[in-house]
Amino acid sequence: MTVEKGAWDALRSVSETRLVDLFKAEPDRLSRLSFDECGLHFDFSKTHLSTALVDRFSELAEACGFAAKRDALFAGAVVNLSESRPAEHPAERGQGAPESVARARNFHGRMRAMIDAIEAEVLGPIRHILHVGIGGSALGPDLLVDALGRDSDRYEVAVVSNVDGAALDEVFRRFDPQATLLVIASKTFTTTETMMNARSVLTWMDEDNVDDPYSRVVALTAAPEKAVEWGIDETRILPFAESVGGRYSLWSSIGFPAALALGWDAFEHLLEGAAAMDRHFRFTAPQANIPLIAAFVDQYYSRLRAAETRAVFAYDERLRLLPDYLQQLEMESNGKSVKTDGSPVDGQTAAITWGGVGTDAQHAVFQLLHQGTRLVPVEFVAAIEPDHVLDDSHHRALLINCFAQGAALMAGKANDDPARAYAGDRPSTTILLDRLDAARLGALLAFYEHRTFANAVLMGINPFDQFGVELGKEIARSIESEGTERFDASTRALIARGLG
Ligand code: F6P
Repeated sequence: MTVEKGAWDALRSVSETRLVDLFKAEPDRLSRLSFDECGLHFDFSKTHLSTALVDRFSELAEACGFAAKRDALFAGAVVNLSESRPAEHPAERGQGAPESVARARNFHGRMRAMIDAIEAEVLGPIRHILHVGIGGSALGPDLLVDALGRDSDRYEVAVVSNVDGAALDEVFRRFDPQATLLVIASKTFTTTETMMNARSVLTWMDEDNVDDPYSRVVALTAAPEKAVEWGIDETRILPFAESVGGRYSLWSSIGFPAALALGWDAFEHLLEGAAAMDRHFRFTAPQANIPLIAAFVDQYYSRLRAAETRAVFAYDERLRLLPDYLQQLEMESNGKSVKTDGSPVDGQTAAITWGGVGTDAQHAVFQLLHQGTRLVPVEFVAAIEPDHVLDDSHHRALLINCFAQGAALMAGKANDDPARAYAGDRPSTTILLDRLDAARLGALLAFYEHRTFANAVLMGINPFDQFGVELGKEIARSIESEGTERFDASTRALIARGLG
């Protein structure tokens, strides 16, 4: 028996206790399972993590070589084994191998110079930023601008990812081609959707007689040579390192539209907030290590209690894109079936991440959370300080609802009528930001990145590759280039009906 298998067996032997009973049995539970870091408060006490479970999970982490793997991540060692490269997103925040940190600083310097040039109208009078990219080249910047840029009158930013022409069409109706900067974000600079959208934006500019549309383009990429081949002048390419994964790239030049819209200081605060969370993750012992504790919760529910999903509800309009962002981060990273050595994973890997915005979600999906048959661990994310001009009653109502849901899920309520009874014992985690600003958002997103990494270590998988997305792309390409003969009857019929 391997040490890891022994650790899992020990975990399975810990008896299940109802949440309300855990509070009775462990009087110090709230203080042991609540943590404050980087302006964020984390409360894991309404999950089933008991003292015994935290101890057993810490043993599992040790058996999996967690500390050494975390050190390897920060040292810039090759942790993405299938692609033989490091995962150097922490270096973007100044936490990594010195040469990688220096390279990231240099690239950030180029971003900053480009922002200065745009502000000085070197590329013409720019009011609109049209960012085209997809997946990790869109979700992060979109979240940042939506969360932090609502009051910003610096530029109007649109992030377009979908190849569906309706997405660009909507932006073309409100943007002025003469005042638009096209930002093409693609790590590989080969992604079909992004390249097609970028070409259509250039055509739109050309049709409006924009003088030299290519001079209105900035490229964000880890493949600068491809951007040059595509026709973009070297001086308008903002590179980032190949070792920064797409879904971990918002800290690199991929964050350019956010840095432009929010200002460079805000972008630096974002990096500093993330760096503070990096230090916490790097130097804190397992029992108090917040991303690792969150991973214990994830592993407990998905592996030991067979939960298929985890739901994230942002009780803050500004974080409405957080569930979308987390879907890629968690599911593209850990939605795998094999371990780093190629052997099958024993048990489930990443839960299906989904979610929404409170209080809207309460009136749509919370019925299932309270009374459905499925176990769904819930995460609430809220900010103590509001950021709107309406009176306090709105924010009070928002937070009261958030806290009430967690209490109701846990306590439940008996009723003689089964249709009106609430079983309770349904787990939730609450993350409370003291306010939503760049530093705290940086810390929050770095927390999620490290939690994803910690989950991967506990499961023995590589969170930094994503071969699962390739087959569909390959087939789509072959439909265009090779015709349809080799497909099954259903696919052939759909192609004939849909494409004529
Ligand atoms: O198809 C998945 C993916 O490769 C993601 O991992 C990535 O974030 C996205 O596509 C976009 O890739 P690129 O930045 O190279 O255009």
